[in-house]
Amino acid sequence: MTTEPNLAHHRPQWKTHIGFVLAAVGSAIGLGNIWRFSYLCYKNGGGAFLIPYLIALFVVGIPLMIMEIALGHKMRGSAPASFASISKKWEWLGWWQIIFVMFGIVLYYSVVIAWCLNFLFFSFNLSWGTDPNNFFFQDFLMLKQTPFDIGDVRSPIILSLLVVWILNWLIVFMGVREGLERANKIFMPLLFALTGVIIFWGLKLPGAMEGIKVYLRPDFSRLSDIRVWMDAFSQIFFTLSLGFGIMIAYASYLPKKAAIVRDSLVISCINCSFSLFAGFGVFAVLGYMAKTTGQPINSVVRESIGLAFVAFPKAISLLPHFSKLFGILFFGSLVIAGLSSSISIIEAFTSGIVDKFHYKRKTVVSVLSVLGFIGGIIFATQSGLLWLDIVDHFLTQYGLVIGGIFECFLIGWIYKTVKLRMHVNRYSDWKIGKWWSFCTRVVVPVALMILLISSFKTELKTPYGGYSWLALVLIGRDWLLVTLYMAIIVASHPWRLEPSERMIK
Ligand code: PHE
Repeated sequence: MTTEPNLAHHRPQWKTHIGFVLAAVGSAIGLGNIWRFSYLCYKNGGGAFLIPYLIALFVVGIPLMIMEIALGHKMRGSAPASFASISKKWEWLGWWQIIFVMFGIVLYYSVVIAWCLNFLFFSFNLSWGTDPNNFFFQDFLMLKQTPFDIGDVRSPIILSLLVVWILNWLIVFMGVREGLERANKIFMPLLFALTGVIIFWGLKLPGAMEGIKVYLRPDFSRLSDIRVWMDAFSQIFFTLSLGFGIMIAYASYLPKKAAIVRDSLVISCINCSFSLFAGFGVFAVLGYMAKTTGQPINSVVRESIGLAFVAFPKAISLLPHFSKLFGILFFGSLVIAGLSSSISIIEAFTSGIVDKFHYKRKTVVSVLSVLGFIGGIIFATQSGLLWLDIVDHFLTQYGLVIGGIFECFLIGWIYKTVKLRMHVNRYSDWKIGKWWSFCTRVVVPVALMILLISSFKTELKTPYGGYSWLALVLIGRDWLLVTLYMAIIVASHPWRLEPSERMIK
């Protein structure tokens, strides 16, 4: 017996089943679904990109989603607690995942939400004028040439970053039921409605069909390029929030009876269909713009950031009616999609700390929000976009992928997938067969290994994004190493309550 036998039973629980599904969908659907997906599709052979994307979804995405939800459900703990229940030696992995996401991804992700918030206000009088490119890079970001030339903090950005962190804090502070569940129950229907309006509106514009053709016209020759496959696999990881420790934490708040397999499928499919639909809206509007300006679409889409903050504002200004309203809808939906993702990270980290140290949840959330705001300041400076680009590249291409490989190894080979499969088949109405064990033990780690090796090879050939090696090493690589070091330190602290005590036996 432990000294505090009740602690494990005080775990919060979702009020309703749909509340859990919406929260998980809210985490998965984020900024990545709207601008990153459309851009990747466009860059990687239009409709042909859907082939590697769907393969990645079924081969890696869904099996891992089932694994993370099943693990959180069984261990009834955050990522560190769940991994530690399997083996204390592997606890660092759980900490590493939630630390580099909390003190990495979410710091710059919140800054991008802050930009969206700024653009939401700019929409009221279309402040970007006739040259949105110049407006975004020169007037708004005042972008410097190199990451070490930091310049000043941009006051409009820092102000809206403050607002974003206050919202993050408010929602997570209120708790799992009153905060996360309630917020997502409002956010998700609202997001679907807004996106629906954008798509409907977009498709009726002249030239929309040309845009859709560019979006969906398959160029199968692109499929022989390994980079297209790499983009598809890493996008699936990012978009489903896998390897972030989020799904594990969210599933730990499920009741004993849970539809693990069905929910995993539903969450993954809603997320990916949302991306596909949003793509229609984005490309319809781009098609309209191409038609009005007489320029081909490829000259308007250059990079993913440019798509949302340059191409879209330009298209919005060209709209014949209600252009301001359209801008408000578009940037409003980005803010909502972003917030429902950022809160999930804060929750994943909070639940890790509360599980291990039993600090008060509200104190943890408050301290984290202050740290998150302070940590984001570097991304709100004049070289913020460059820092964001480097950190994002290293964290998503390496952090998420390496974490995923270790996770599969730990669960597939050390814990043994068969035990988790038995657990799933005992509690879930839909059952999984041996194919799932094979996927998580062999297919997923091999696919991720190939991804990792190819990224690494490309990395060594040409420095990413044309940055100096010094910047890449000090900002990118070291960001990962410092978070790893922090994870090892936190993992070496003793537990007050053995993590395996909370497990559903
Ligand atoms: N799934 C999110 C997206 O596509 C990624 C994300 C989740 C980012 C949680 C930050 C926090 O945008």
